[in-house]
Amino acid sequence: MTEVVQASPLLEIHNLTVRFGGLVAINALDLQIVEGEIFALVGPNGAGKTTVLNSISGLIKPAVGTIQFAGQELLSLPAHRRASLGIGRTFQQLQLFSSMTVLDNLLTAQHTQLQTGILSGVLPFWRSKREDASARQRALETLVQLGLDSYAQRIAGSLPFGIQKLIGVARALVLHPRLVLLDEPAAGVPPQEVQELATRLRFWQKELSTTLLLIEHNMRLVQAVADRVCVLDYGSKLAEGEPRTVLSNPAVLTAYLGSGASKKTQQEQAAEGISHVEG
Ligand SMILES: Nc1ncnc2c1ncn2[C@@H]1O[C@H](COP(=O)(O)OP(=O)(O)OP(=O)(O)O)[C@@H](O)[C@H]1O
Ligand SMILES: [Mg+2]
Repeated sequence: MTEVVQASPLLEIHNLTVRFGGLVAINALDLQIVEGEIFALVGPNGAGKTTVLNSISGLIKPAVGTIQFAGQELLSLPAHRRASLGIGRTFQQLQLFSSMTVLDNLLTAQHTQLQTGILSGVLPFWRSKREDASARQRALETLVQLGLDSYAQRIAGSLPFGIQKLIGVARALVLHPRLVLLDEPAAGVPPQEVQELATRLRFWQKELSTTLLLIEHNMRLVQAVADRVCVLDYGSKLAEGEPRTVLSNPAVLTAYLGSGASKKTQQEQAAEGISHVEG
C-alpha cells in the first residue's frame, strides 16, 4: 500500500445532499480525498456511489453541499470546466466506440472531455492540423506509457472485454488528470484478470501521479489497490478507513448481505465480492 501523506485534501466534499424527487440519494455526506491515494467507494446497489461521481463530474446538480477540488469550488462550474481542471472519469457502462480503433477512442476522449459547450458542434471543423497532431501524439504516448500501445490500431469492439475495460480507463487518463473517477472498472472482467487489473491500476496511478476515486463491488480489487475505503449505505457513510478493517466490520457485511445469511456465508461472499449486481 502507498503511504498516504497527510496533506490538505485534493477533493473535499462537505454536507453533500442529492435528491431525486422524494428520494434522498445522498444524505449530508462528508468525504476527503488526499492527493496520491487510491480511495474506494463501496456499498450495496443503489447506495448512491455513482451519484457521488456524477456530482463531482457535473452530470447532476446536488441540492445542498460543497465540493472543492484543489481549493476550487466545483458545483458552480459546468462539466467540461471540471474536466479541464484535471478531473477524468469512466462510466459504469463501458463507453467505447466499438467500431473505432483504440487510438481513435483516445482521440475522441480528448475532444469530448474538453468540448466547450455551445461551440462543441463546430469546433472540430476549426481545429488546426497542429492541434490534431498533438492530440494524436498525446493518445499514442498515453498508450505507450500504459503499456497498451500494441492495441493502438485494433478495433476496440474486437478486443476481449477485460482489455476493453482497460482502454476505457486509458480514455479517462489521456489528459493526465490529477483526479480520476472510475465507476466499477472490474465489472464484467473475468475473475482471473482482476489481479492484472489491480496491478495495472497501481502502476498507472504511480506512472501518471494521479489520484484515484474508485467505485467497486469487487472486494478483491478493493483490498489489492485501495489505501482507504468508504462504505455508503442509503446515501450515508456507514464506515471509513483501512480496507482490511472496514470490510470485516459486521455492520458493513450486514449492509451488503442483509441479516438473514449465516456469518460464514456472509464472509465468504464478501471476500468473493459476489454479493451484488454488477452495473
Ligand atoms: N437520474 C436519476 N433519477 C432518479 N433516481 C436516480 C437517478 N440516479 C440515481 N437514482 C437513484 O438514486 C439511488 C442511488 O443510485 P446510484 O446509481 O448512485 O447507486 P449506486 O450505488 O451507484 O448503485 P449500483 O451499485 O447499482 O451502481 C438509487 O435509488 C437510484 O435509483
Ligand atoms: Mg453505480
